[in-house]
Amino acid sequence: MEEIVTITNLYRDFIIKHRKWLLSAQQTVIKALNNISFNIYKGEMFGLLGPNGAGKTTATKILCTLLYPSKGTATVLGYNVVKEAQKIRPLINMVAGAERMLYFRLTARENMQFFADLYNLSRLGLKEKIDDLLGQVGLLERADSPIEGYSKGMRQRLQIAKAFLNDPLVLFLDEPTLGLDVQVARELRKLVKDRVNHNRMSVLLTTHYLHEADELCDRVAIINRGKILAIETPKTLKKQYHSRPKVHASVGGTNQKSIEILKSLEYVKNINILSNQIKDETVTATCDLIIEVLREDDISRVINELFQNLELKVFEVKRYLPSLEDVFVQMIEQSG
Ligand SMILES: Nc1ncnc2c1ncn2[C@@H]1O[C@H](COP(=O)(O)OP(=O)(O)OP(=O)(O)O)[C@@H](O)[C@H]1O
Ligand SMILES: [Mg+2]
Repeated sequence: MEEIVTITNLYRDFIIKHRKWLLSAQQTVIKALNNISFNIYKGEMFGLLGPNGAGKTTATKILCTLLYPSKGTATVLGYNVVKEAQKIRPLINMVAGAERMLYFRLTARENMQFFADLYNLSRLGLKEKIDDLLGQVGLLERADSPIEGYSKGMRQRLQIAKAFLNDPLVLFLDEPTLGLDVQVARELRKLVKDRVNHNRMSVLLTTHYLHEADELCDRVAIINRGKILAIETPKTLKKQYHSRPKVHASVGGTNQKSIEILKSLEYVKNINILSNQIKDETVTATCDLIIEVLREDDISRVINELFQNLELKVFEVKRYLPSLEDVFVQMIEQSG
């Protein structure tokens, strides 16, 4: 498989100053990236997942040639990010959800034209391409008004349209769906998926929406405090999740008594009640229960018990499968 991005033993330190007294300051070194290595293959969508301050944006900026590494090497499309940055830039693009990367006084169309000029794109067919991209992100109607009057989500959509201007071979998406409404976030995911499938574009995605990473990414790296904890497919990661078997039941008629009955079963280890509080014995609440049992065999026992419990109405019951979020939380907690 062709490697499109290669990071080897990469470090990035930041030196920050703390003011002590009026004229004296103390320096601290922040190890934003502390010896990370990974690669991204052609046509792959690779997720970089980690809590705030883990180093995701730092890694993305280094690959986009916006920041130098302190030590180690990184190549994109075979070019070194430090020595051959000029060769990389025309071939990549980026969306940074948390940063202001547009010109607010310009209209959407003018922004697109401006970035097209920066990329030195041919004028031939450019107008149609810009209209097509603005149409795909639903901005055609407002294309000629200055974007300072746009909502946050509309500006974000424009960033996404801008990201496809130069038909990048590698796209860097740093929290691309931050602040987007559900529908537009879905459309963006579809747009990216289509490009990956048709053009064999490679993508590095950072996101705090783990369902998004689960849906899109072929492999993900979990990063915390500048170190990589795991690199796996989402499916493999979920298999590695360590916990007792669980049952997910949507039930009606829950009250203290019905929950106490379930809790008193010797094979029930824990019950997590999602949605709706159970306030007192008279409340008839509908809620989701995640029931943790001791062994595999106890799954059918607890399901039987749910149906036999005269207080409860069972609407749906199934085995609870861990989500990527469960695995992520567990890994980050264990890494300390
Ligand atoms: N320009 C900078 N100057 C000083 N420290 C910085 C700078 N940029 C990043 N850092 C520090 O490096 C660490 C990693 O930051 P980074 O922005 O890469 O995290 P992140 O994983 O993108 O977090 P988030 O999920 O909040 O976006 C943090 O401790 C941050 O404070
Ligand atoms: Mg970030």
